Amino acid sequence: MIKVENLYKSFGPKQVLSGVNLEVKDGETLVVIGGSGTGKSILLKNIVGLIKPDKGAVFIDGVDIIKADKFALYDIQKKMGYLFQESALFDSLTIEENVAFGLRNLTKLTEPEIKERVKLCLAMVGLNDIEHLKPSAISGGMKKRVGLARAIAYQPKYIFYDEPTTGLDPIMSDVIGSLIMHLKKELKITSIVVTHDMKSAYKIADRILMLYQGKIIFNGTVEEVKNTRNEYVKQFVEGLMQGPIPVEMSFDFEEK
Ligand SMILES: Nc1ncnc2c1ncn2[C@@H]1O[C@H](COP(=O)(O)OP(=O)(O)OP(=O)(O)O)[C@@H](O)[C@H]1O
Ligand SMILES: [Mg+2]
Repeated sequence: MIKVENLYKSFGPKQVLSGVNLEVKDGETLVVIGGSGTGKSILLKNIVGLIKPDKGAVFIDGVDIIKADKFALYDIQKKMGYLFQESALFDSLTIEENVAFGLRNLTKLTEPEIKERVKLCLAMVGLNDIEHLKPSAISGGMKKRVGLARAIAYQPKYIFYDEPTTGLDPIMSDVIGSLIMHLKKELKITSIVVTHDMKSAYKIADRILMLYQGKIIFNGTVEEVKNTRNEYVKQFVEGLMQGPIPVEMSFDFEEK
């Protein structure tokens, strides 16, 4: 189980997280939505221990990962898969080496087993016969899917997906949504998914949280989001310029 308590993070004068609380039960898929720059990626990075918060606690399976020493943190991180928003593939490694990275470093699988697992994970994200290529030779959407294959490859207990469908075409987005659901059902994976893609959020979420001005302003099921009277959530999920969330623009124009 994942529990985040009263998390604060600022960069200089910029307060990004101002007291975030959330819980993800085992087997649950939690979707986090919120505008660009509201701190969704920063929240995920705090949860997986990539950056340290200013205040607050993150418990994973009862271990406070902020206070944990590097050995305890390493043990916890072995249970986690992380899909970076920017894919973050190693440019000098081939696709095969990228996907196999965690398998070679964190498991005792043999080389033939690793090769087979890499092939399977790439096939699961709709990619075949690209193992020998370098990341510079594939498209942005393909990189995202390779990042996803790497995150799922060693079958972690927890997977954190930062924008898994951004940059993918609508059909591939649906495939990835189905894959996330498959991993949850078949492997009982617990996950947090950050996304703007409401179609995929509605497909995969057990619960949806909305982050706004550093805090969670909404926590509900898909039905509750669809029927909400919260004007902030409505404006966001319907994608409207008008509403309580101000739109930063340096010029005005009228819609005809
Ligand atoms: N290393 C950093 N130094 C300074 N400011 C940072 C740093 N990382 C993030 N920020 C700021 O924190 C805020 C939240 O960033 P974050 O990447 O979490 O946004 P986000 O909600 O993921 O946005 P998007 O939907 O565009 O990915 C932004 O204003 C960003 O400029
Ligand atoms: Mg982000």
